[in-house]
Amino acid sequence: MQDKARQLLDGNARSGRGYYYVSPSKRKYPHQWSWDSSFHAIVNCRLGRVDLAKKEMLTLLSKMLPDGTLPHIVLHDHRLASLAVRAFRSYWSQGDRSPLVQPPVVALAVKEIWQESEDTAFLRETLPYLERHFKWLETRRRFGDSSLVSIFSPWECGLDHKPGFDRLMGRLAKLPFGLYIALYASEWRMARRNFDPEEIAKRGYFNVREVLFNTVYALGLGALGTMFAATGEDSKAEHFRTGGLSVEKAIIDECYDPASGLYFDLDVRTASLVCLMPIALGGMPGDRCEELVRHLTDPDEFWLRYPVPSVPRNSRHFRPGAQRYLWRGPTWINTNWLIIEGLKRHGYNELAEAVAQSSKSLVERSGFWEYYNPITGEGGGEKDFGWSTLAAIM
Ligand code: GLC
Repeated sequence: MQDKARQLLDGNARSGRGYYYVSPSKRKYPHQWSWDSSFHAIVNCRLGRVDLAKKEMLTLLSKMLPDGTLPHIVLHDHRLASLAVRAFRSYWSQGDRSPLVQPPVVALAVKEIWQESEDTAFLRETLPYLERHFKWLETRRRFGDSSLVSIFSPWECGLDHKPGFDRLMGRLAKLPFGLYIALYASEWRMARRNFDPEEIAKRGYFNVREVLFNTVYALGLGALGTMFAATGEDSKAEHFRTGGLSVEKAIIDECYDPASGLYFDLDVRTASLVCLMPIALGGMPGDRCEELVRHLTDPDEFWLRYPVPSVPRNSRHFRPGAQRYLWRGPTWINTNWLIIEGLKRHGYNELAEAVAQSSKSLVERSGFWEYYNPITGEGGGEKDFGWSTLAAIM
């Protein structure tokens, strides 16, 4: 499977003057997406191709907006833009970069590269970018007393059509394909406010403290703490380390639902795999981990033939097969990878292995698809999808 993964990553790779990245898929997603790219770098790194991983991360980081926003999409070749993307570009301040973000997996990828290569020069080159982005999150996306940061669009958590957001997307979302229209309308509305976080928060637009985003944010802060310690920048190391701990504590305290033992976005109480994601946090107490594992292994919820479905089976939103909207039932390999890393962190090695084996068997059976039916294992969405190569390093 590792050879096939290398072939896929090379087949989806795009390079030109000053850039190299792996596109999520050749047809539908030809551009560079932030969290996809970071997952690709992690795979390349573990497959012994650390130089490619470095190039991909440097390409992404070099496209950071002046204020510290790390764009969720970067268009390196405008000719590849679909009509929809062309429409967006017209109101992005830098026409080749989205002013939205995605979960900052980038910090985990950079840490992985540094641990693999022991290349401190690479660390010194990338840390200033990461510092800017994480400070931007801390100062521009945090509102009120909580340490949790907000996302301004469902696109920002990476789970575009997560059912919990329906209610927040307004009346347009109820029309056929309405969620797409609502997502575009919401971006257009933000554009009218120049994507200014204070303005967006003030006007009461979509503003959610989301569990997956904040979990990755907390992990990223911790990674920054470790990396700054390695370059001898102790006060920065301390700043990010304690920042990570306080976000972790906020997730554990503020997102926890004692009645179910699950973790919910603030103000959004619809179950999805996101409710399990805090298992990735090192500070999650043992009894709370047990609760999460009970949900994960419940056949009425997440323990289907091919776990972990994006929505539990007992939810009215559960749709296992490919359909109009994403993230409403199918199993995705990137979220499996995050859950596996969390399970291993807390010593659930057998369970982690079971999810890993099941993810691998999906790929062996059907190839590297964008997502899979958790009951039949059938692949859906885009074929030869980049981050599904994570199965090869599980
Ligand atoms: C879809 C996914 C998103 C991903 C993008 C590119 O929009 O929901 O998470 O980054 O495709 O693969």
